[in-house]
Amino acid sequence: MAKITLRQLLDEAAEAGFGVPAFNINNMEQGLAILEAADRCDAPVILQASRGARTYARDIMLSKMMDALVEMYPHIPVCIHQDHGNNEETCLTAIRHGFTSVMMDGSLEADMKTPASYDYNVVITERVTRMAHWVGASVEGELGVLGSLETGAGEAEDGHGFEGQLGHDQLLTDPDQAVDFVSRTRVDALAIAMGTSHGAYKFSRRPDGDILAMNVIEAIHEKLPSTHLVMHGSSSVPQELQDVFNRYGGDMPQTWGVPVEEIERGIRHGVRKVNIDTDCRMAMTGQFRRVAMENPREFDPRKFMKPAMDALRDLCLDRYERFGTAGRASRIRPVPLDDMAERYRRGELDPRIEMRRAA
Ligand code: G3H
Ligand code: 13P
Ligand code: ZN
Repeated sequence: MAKITLRQLLDEAAEAGFGVPAFNINNMEQGLAILEAADRCDAPVILQASRGARTYARDIMLSKMMDALVEMYPHIPVCIHQDHGNNEETCLTAIRHGFTSVMMDGSLEADMKTPASYDYNVVITERVTRMAHWVGASVEGELGVLGSLETGAGEAEDGHGFEGQLGHDQLLTDPDQAVDFVSRTRVDALAIAMGTSHGAYKFSRRPDGDILAMNVIEAIHEKLPSTHLVMHGSSSVPQELQDVFNRYGGDMPQTWGVPVEEIERGIRHGVRKVNIDTDCRMAMTGQFRRVAMENPREFDPRKFMKPAMDALRDLCLDRYERFGTAGRASRIRPVPLDDMAERYRRGELDPRIEMRRAA
């Protein structure tokens, strides 16, 4: 079995200078497509499940399905990650179901709508990190609130994200606060806010530095060179996927996502995990629409699913190649959770902040 922790995978990525896309998963078809892409190009995988995915597919189905994918591809290291955990219970039940990594998103309160205080975020994230590390699982924290620098609004379309308006002080992660946050919480990876948001409607124009603040990533990496950074809301919303969606009866207003070149720039500055869900959804639903319009008599779901899976596989392959993930799977020997727990106990995986400052 080749399950891997997020910490080990991102340590490997940092060492070799590549990034790893984290694809959201809700069902078997997505899992098969992502693993087929990884198998074709020898890429390690991060499968991440949101709370919504766990409710949709149910914990037992989802976790056994992901375990089956791990078994089918024993040569591919697979990290199974909780996306946007809202409290201790979500994170610990994920670990109990075999996840090797959790995100404790304390940037928002447990309702996932109310922006949280810094103290709340530190306390809950540190608590989850302490518990997860006892069993060797990894933790991603988030500092700064995801939302649009253009409008000051959060995203509502996924059912999480703050309501109302926030200023740039909350929408952009502060580099000095990031140093304090990582040293106090001991997270393995840090999600940061720099103008991205979830969903298809991220930017009303091709983003420049005013609305996609890549300089914030560079400033944080400068202060925290050993910390693995995570970009959320990193779908590129490619024009060709918008065109397919609209050509076959969709009605998606023109929109812009995060250009892949900007993600590549992030990877050169400490970004190791890149969260992508919307592009995967669009790749699949565009094909559902095409098949439905081209073959109005078709009623076999597999005839819809197969081209959708092929489109998702091709998207994943592209990201594995562009982020430098391709060709890395066979070089990684996954460390078991118990051994990771021992390494945490010995302090070997503590944040390397003071050492770097002194160097
Ligand atoms: O966190 C955002 C992901 O796109 C997951 O979305 O909560 O609708 O599954 P979801
Ligand atoms: P997108 O909506 O841009 O794909 O972002 C997904 C994400 O950040 C999941 O946590
Ligand atoms: Zn996210």
